[in-house]
Order: sequence, then structure tokens, then C-alpha cells
Amino acid sequence: MTPLLVIIVIILAILVSIPEIRNYFLLHWKLRNLPVLKGVPLLGSAAYFFLRKQEDYLQILQDISKDENGPARFYLGPYFTVVISTPEDVKTLTTSNSCLDKMSFYRFYRCAYGLVTAPVPMWKIHRRLLTPSFSSQALRTFVPIFNDKAKTLLANLDKAVDCSDRDFLKYIFYCTLEMICETTLGYNIDVQNGKNLDYFKAVEAVTEIVGSRVFKFWYYPDVIYERTKAYAVEKMYFDIAYKLSSRLIAEKKQEYNAETFHGNSEILIQKLLKFLLAGELTEQEVQDEVDTMIATGHDTSALTLSNTLLMLAIHQDIQQKVLEEIMSVNPIPDAYVSFEDTLQFTYMEMVIKETLRHFPIVPMAGRHCMEDTKFSSVVIPKGTNFLLFIYQLHRRQEVWGPRVNEFYPEHFTPDNVGKRHPYSYIPFSSGLRNCIGRKYAFISMKIILGIILKNFRVTADGLTMADLKPSMFTTIRIKQIDRIRIERRNMAQNL
Ligand code: HEM
Repeated sequence: MTPLLVIIVIILAILVSIPEIRNYFLLHWKLRNLPVLKGVPLLGSAAYFFLRKQEDYLQILQDISKDENGPARFYLGPYFTVVISTPEDVKTLTTSNSCLDKMSFYRFYRCAYGLVTAPVPMWKIHRRLLTPSFSSQALRTFVPIFNDKAKTLLANLDKAVDCSDRDFLKYIFYCTLEMICETTLGYNIDVQNGKNLDYFKAVEAVTEIVGSRVFKFWYYPDVIYERTKAYAVEKMYFDIAYKLSSRLIAEKKQEYNAETFHGNSEILIQKLLKFLLAGELTEQEVQDEVDTMIATGHDTSALTLSNTLLMLAIHQDIQQKVLEEIMSVNPIPDAYVSFEDTLQFTYMEMVIKETLRHFPIVPMAGRHCMEDTKFSSVVIPKGTNFLLFIYQLHRRQEVWGPRVNEFYPEHFTPDNVGKRHPYSYIPFSSGLRNCIGRKYAFISMKIILGIILKNFRVTADGLTMADLKPSMFTTIRIKQIDRIRIERRNMAQNL
């Protein structure tokens, strides 16, 4: 043997003796027959994201994966993931008890012990403890708060119309943030009156910076990433967000200890503090759950509402139909919207669902399987990472039929829903690790939408569906959203 060959054999032997490296190559070998999404040697599909703008990422991912009708491999440099976007495979992945863990990139969100990211054993405990805070009974008690916050929104929109403020959608984000802080934390963040505004900038910036890191595999190792400018900016914004939640927890602790905590005994912060005192949760777990709730609970609903308004601005006939339904249930412009009213807004619900089909706010989610799992065409070995590509699932012509690209709320008539595969539509993910706030989101969104549409008309002069270009900054954002205009309704003409 030549000395070079000896050196190569020794290096290989050392590499193979490291379990992580051995497993990586084993996994690679077992998946060798799975189709590979477009890419180039060494960089894989990362080549397509390289030097492109973040607003193009969603389109790139769709372009390179749209021809696949089953699981396919996807490489970002040495890191590979299996992409899932057909109903049957979505069902397999999201209902398997061994695929509940999240992919490693979730650690970039620096909230390791919150529900979204927590490892399975911890997630099971947290989910069981927190589920009652989102029960129908608890949600009913939130309705007065939703109404109260929506009224302040109305006043802000009124002012925006008076001074032709085109950036009026921000008031919806302020409103949903106030709702989540008040209902889950019993805290009036008062952002609709101009307080704590830096928190918004922080959430927006963090989702953008972290969303970009996911596609830049060279930034995966912390030792490299922590030397970048992006990290410095990210850290600054995370600090702003943590400062708010830490302050809030400290205040609530004082109230809790002094037994001056008012309100509903089911609310989330009380549960968290109770479990903290009983030693069932740590300080860090409480902090991460509070951060998770604030972040997941407002941005998602506000974005969905903004996109729904955009859809209604483009489709005036559908806006009129939603308005007629609202007026038939609850006609007085600033009247209280009850829980029962929201149940009667069935067409509105179809419109929101169709909006979430076109623009699922979380366009992709990541999972990690701990056991070999049998998918439609192949068994995928344990240890594999999966990308649940929700955006693509919602745009499959064979699932949604000839009107797939149209905005067609009738996709969600009970009849049409019954004809489709039950896992064709998952804007809230599915299975055990689905969104805990789905019902909360619908009730709060219906109350806000009901109040807005009774009082204002939205338009988007000349804009069409074909003009819309959604982008992925962790959540979906549509650049053309700034084309929506708002005007006061003539009440006499509402019906
Ligand atoms: C239209 C609004 C919403 C949409 C589209 C949405 C969507 C989703 C999706 C897709 C997931 C899975 C994420 C993943 O696996 O990476 C999720 C999880 C979650 N969502 Fe939502 N969400 C919405 C509103 C809310 C609200 C209002 C809350 C809180 C009140 C909330 C709290 C959560 C939490 C805590 C999780 C993690 C659940 C778990 O793993 O047990 N979401 N959501």
C-alpha cells in the first residue's frame, strides 16, 4: 500500500467510527433511489437560492419541486431533507407518532422549550397542560376582549381614512397582538394606543433573518453564523422581544404571588405560573411558552386577515356576498359580535379558508422521523428530516381541479370538502402536532373581519390574482398587499 492510500484508509476509518458521520452516509445510501430535486454537485438546490433575493425563495422551491408526485430528496449542501406535498404522504407524516419531532433548523428561532419547537417528551407535557386554555369554553370567555380590541381597531381605521394613511393594515397587527396578550397573558400591551411598537419591528425582522438562514446551509454551524452581521442584527431584535416577555412575566408573577390575579382561571399565564411553582415547568420553559404564544398568536392571524382583505379587494362580488351575510346576522355597524354570530358566518369562513389555501401563512414545516416510515412509494429510514410543503399541497391541480388558480370559496362547501382527500388542506398543519390556536384564530378573525367590513369597503384598483407574488420570510408575505385601499361605507347602501 502506498503511504497516500494508507492515509486515506485511516481517515475513512476515523470518519466511519464517528456515529453521526456513519449514520449520515448510511441514510444517504438507503435513500439513493429516491428522486432528487434539481441541484448541482456539492451545493445541491442551495445553488438556486445563492445570490437570489429572499422574496424569490418560495417560487424557487416550488419550481424545483412541482413535478414530484411523491417524496423527493432535496439537498442544501451536505444537508438533505425529504419533501412531502401529496395528501397521502402528508397523512402518513403528520399522523405517525414517530414523526412528531421538529427539524433541527427550528433551533434558529431560539425558543427551544416552546410548543412549536420543543422535543417530543417535553412537548407532550406542555401540550397537555396548555390545551384547556384553548377549549371552546375558554374561547367563549375571550369574545368580549376580542370585541373590545376590535372596537379600538375601528377607531384607528377611522383615523387612517381621515388622514389617508395607506399603511392602515398595521392596525390589524396591533389589534391581534393586543388580543393575544390580553387573552393568554392577562396583559394590556396597549399597542393600539402607540405603546411597545418596537416589538413589531423585532418580530418582523427576526422572521425575515431566520427565514433566510434556513436556506443558507453555510450558516448552519453557530460558530460561523455568530460571526456574521445578520447574527448581530438578529440578536438585537431577539433581545427586544425577550425584554418584553420577561417584563410581562415578572409583572404577572408579582400579581400571582400577591394573589391579585384577576379574570378567568383558565388563562394560560396562570397555568404556566402554577406549574412553575409546582416544579413541573422551569423558568426557561415558561419564558419560551410566553414568547411562542405572543409570536405565533398575532402575526399569523393578522397576516391571514390582511390577505383576506386583499382577496376581497380584488373580488368585489365576493366582498358583497360576505357583507350580506354579516348584515343578515349582525347589522348594526359597531354592535357586539357574539360567539354564536361567528358560527353563522359560514360564507366568511369559506373565504378565509380559500385565502389560506392560496397563501398558507406557514408555507412549510419541518419534521424529523425517529422510526422507518412507509410512504406511498417508499420506506424512508429513521433519522430522516422532512419538509412538509403546505404551499405546494394547496396548489395541486389533481387535488383542487380546474379552478386551482382561481379564488373560489366554494372549494370549501361541505359537498366539495367531502369529495377531497382529508389531508389536501392543512394550513394549520395536521395530526397531533397541529396548531393549538386554530379555533382561537377563526373566532378572533371573524369578529375583526365582521366589524371591518360593516364599516369599510376595500379596493385594489386593477390588481389581479396573477399580479400577486407571495414570498416566504418564515411566514408568507405578499408584496402587493400595499395596493389595498380602504374607504368608509355608506351605511344606507350596505344592503
Ligand atoms: C390563521 C392563523 C394561524 C395559522 C395559519 C397557524 C398555523 C400553524 C401551523 C402551520 C402550525 C404548525 C407549525 C409547524 O409545525 O412548524 C402551527 C402551530 C402552532 N400554532 Fe398556529 N396558526 C395560526 C394561529 C395561531 C394562534 C392564534 C395561536 C395562539 C393563540 C397559535 C399557536 C400555535 C402554537 C402554540 C403552535 C405549536 C403547536 C404544537 O406544536 O403543539 N397559532 N400553527
